[in-house]
Amino acid sequence: MDLNKIFPEKRVIITGAGSGLGKALACEFAKRKWNIIIAEINDKRARESAAEVEKLGGKSIALHCDVTKPEDLDKVVETAKKELGGVDIMVNNAGVSAGGFMEKISLEDWDWIININLKSVIYGCRCVIPLFKKQQSGYIINVSSNAGLVCLPEMSSYNMTKAGVIAISETLRTELSSFGIGVSVVCPTFFKTNLMDQFHSPDERQRKLAEGFFDKAHSSAEKVAKCIIKSVSHKHLYIIPQIEGKYLWWNKRHFPRSYFKVSALIYKKGLFYKYLGINPDEL
Ligand SMILES: NC(=O)c1ccc[n+]([C@@H]2O[C@H](COP(=O)([O-])OP(=O)(O)OC[C@H]3O[C@@H](n4cnc5c(N)ncnc54)[C@H](O)[C@@H]3O)[C@@H](O)[C@H]2O)c1
Repeated sequence: MDLNKIFPEKRVIITGAGSGLGKALACEFAKRKWNIIIAEINDKRARESAAEVEKLGGKSIALHCDVTKPEDLDKVVETAKKELGGVDIMVNNAGVSAGGFMEKISLEDWDWIININLKSVIYGCRCVIPLFKKQQSGYIINVSSNAGLVCLPEMSSYNMTKAGVIAISETLRTELSSFGIGVSVVCPTFFKTNLMDQFHSPDERQRKLAEGFFDKAHSSAEKVAKCIIKSVSHKHLYIIPQIEGKYLWWNKRHFPRSYFKVSALIYKKGLFYKYLGINPDEL
């Protein structure tokens, strides 16, 4: 069913909509003439997204919002109630990325990524659910990652935050079902955005690996955003846009023993480096 028919009032909040996937989603909603609240920490990027939304035929409200502050998210929902009379879709998208060997990731970096990637989703859900229950309608889209499903090595902190987002989404899918509230969780593999701008890692090798995967990425934020809109209109719980992401997850679920055996072998033999054309001796 068309999203505009499900939500005729067309009101969406998108966190981190100043760049990458959040911005691409804002543009997709704008093409469908939605009212879009851009909740973003980077005010310049937020203004640029707002201008783009208006150009595409949507209506925008750009708000300064740090998703690690629950009071900022409360204010965003309050503004939506005041200016738009409610919210139809909440997209918890803002996020950062990180790598590192488990024993070398600093405790400060664990707190940093947990606050931005995981606790932000808790705050985003908490602030909108009472309104959705009152409205007896609404939809939550949580942006996780394929990393939360298949957990690649040297990414424990990122994997853990994204697995947490999947757990919250699965829980809410059932918990909110009797209130007419839908939930989806988005689990993409790599696609090109500005995500590496804020990458944290104790060693250079994880940065090089991540950059290598981004360089090889064949997907784009626009393609992922289009897939999300279509999947939400079908009320899919798991949104896994890329074929390789679907394959990895299917493999892990059905053949966990061989999946982890082969993963360990690939990792031990340094096949990631060969695939990416990186010489680990130069790192
Ligand atoms: N790009 C990928 O390959 C990929 C893959 C899987 C999942 N994801 C997820 O997609 C989401 C969007 O990432 P992206 O790739 O578009 O990256 P991006 O860096 O292009 O966009 C992220 C946006 O979030 C904003 N942001 C960061 N911290 C914030 C904070 N504290 N408060 C408010 N806004 C904040 C940034 O300013 C930026 O505009 C993230 O959750 C990321 O983990 C991305």
